[in-house]
Amino acid sequence: MKKILIVGNWKLNGNKKFLINFINNFKKKKKNIYKNCNIVITPPSLYLDAFNYLTLNENINLGAQNVDVNVFGSFTGDLSVKMLKDVGVKYVILGHSERRINYYENNFTVLKKFILLKKYNLIPIICIGENYDEKKKKLTNKICINQIKIIIKKLGIKSLNNTVIAYEPIWAIGTGKSAKPEYVQNVHSKIRSYISKYDKLISKNIIIQYGGSVNEKNAKSFILQHDIDGLLIGNSSLKLNSFIKIIKEVSNLKN
Ligand code: PGA
Repeated sequence: MKKILIVGNWKLNGNKKFLINFINNFKKKKKNIYKNCNIVITPPSLYLDAFNYLTLNENINLGAQNVDVNVFGSFTGDLSVKMLKDVGVKYVILGHSERRINYYENNFTVLKKFILLKKYNLIPIICIGENYDEKKKKLTNKICINQIKIIIKKLGIKSLNNTVIAYEPIWAIGTGKSAKPEYVQNVHSKIRSYISKYDKLISKNIIIQYGGSVNEKNAKSFILQHDIDGLLIGNSSLKLNSFIKIIKEVSNLKN
């Protein structure tokens, strides 16, 4: 059975004290919440190593928010896939809309990074989603499919084995206005049926998460939808109590 995947994306937030408090309190409160969930935290890169060290025997996976397209060399300020692996990273977020918008990343950049992650056996979390204008023009499904299509066309459908897709409508991220669960379900089912044209098993097994203003009040309503397999959580993952509540609320829903 597929486990629900809960990813906490800290973005550019937190410091050493926050990290230590979060992990210590998490260890105290975590009882039984793991049953049907895989939990990933993506702290800022500077804290990956410390996070890994402090959670060595915990059932919590380490994720990175980004990776460079180069593996080593003269690329001031960048972080390579090998370095991420070296400090215990298992998952890497690719193509988050904040990177697409602020750093001009496009589907081709995502593809290059995806190839590297596959080569080094890390799990990509590919973020896809439409902006508000595109939503109004009813382009959502087309945009989402195009963001995945480039990978399937270049690398083949099998490359989506052990890959996560995170549907994050841009208008719902950090706005407090999440998408309606039925709306998300509809997009997820379109993505799944697109993948199933290539490979039914991959389409069934692939984890498609939702992200965008998820909180302890609405988390359950998303996971109750048939094609929503997990959540990518920004703001609410910075509040440990909310984060734990979300995990507790959803962890038994897909039994
Ligand atoms: P949010 O962020 O939960 O704060 O909306 C989600 C994300 O950007 O992954």
